[in-house]
Amino acid sequence: MRSKLNLKMDLIQNTIQLVKQKLEGTESGHDWFHIERVWKLSTYIQEREGGDQQVIELAALLHDIADPKFHNGDETLAAKIVNEFLTEQKLDNETIGKVIFIIENMSFKNRNDAPQNLPLELKIVQDADRLDAIGAIGIARTFNFGGYKNNLMYHPDISPKINQTKEEYKKSNGTTINHFYEKLLLLKDMMNTNTAKDLATERHQLMLNFLDEFYKEWNVSL
Ligand code: ADP
Ligand code: NI
Repeated sequence: MRSKLNLKMDLIQNTIQLVKQKLEGTESGHDWFHIERVWKLSTYIQEREGGDQQVIELAALLHDIADPKFHNGDETLAAKIVNEFLTEQKLDNETIGKVIFIIENMSFKNRNDAPQNLPLELKIVQDADRLDAIGAIGIARTFNFGGYKNNLMYHPDISPKINQTKEEYKKSNGTTINHFYEKLLLLKDMMNTNTAKDLATERHQLMLNFLDEFYKEWNVSL
């Protein structure tokens, strides 16, 4: 008979195996190493902020198992895979429900949800995912994604900024630099936990410095 702790470790190991297998060959900003960083960041935040460790670890590991972006917009596939897998692993229904709720509601797109109504476990995994979208790794992931989509890095006729009008957005959408204004520079103020807010400060500043340097070099203003 295996102890409860051993069973929990088996579950995490089996989850890692599933995720690695499902994410094989994905774009490198959304691959196993992104998941591993989000898992580690979630654990770091959980140690300081509390919350159900098992739910947090499982949600972090499974949060990008079937991103609709890479699955023809299918928004139900992730829940299906996770439900099937965790049921097979004999996890109780209540915990499975909590994990699926996080995966379905943590995306940037759902930013209008009132944060205070969300479970702490969701807030933590969401913070971890957002931290991995900013800073040096965030910059690298964004350019990697832009390259994968064959987007322009930047276009000098467009000056991207936060709070663009619809018209400006339409014109600038598609450049990788625009993604900073559309999303990355907004993330610092969207962090839920104090631990993540602390970690976000330096990463945010790094992006501002990067953009300054980018424009200087682009314009060859020496
Ligand atoms: P979420 O799942 O939280 O809504 P995404 O999966 O859309 O977030 O974004 C994750 C990362 O993918 C971003 O932080 C960015 O690095 C990259 N990315 C997404 N959309 C774009 C884009 N249009 N241009 C460049 N990078 C992008
Ligand atoms: Ni993610």
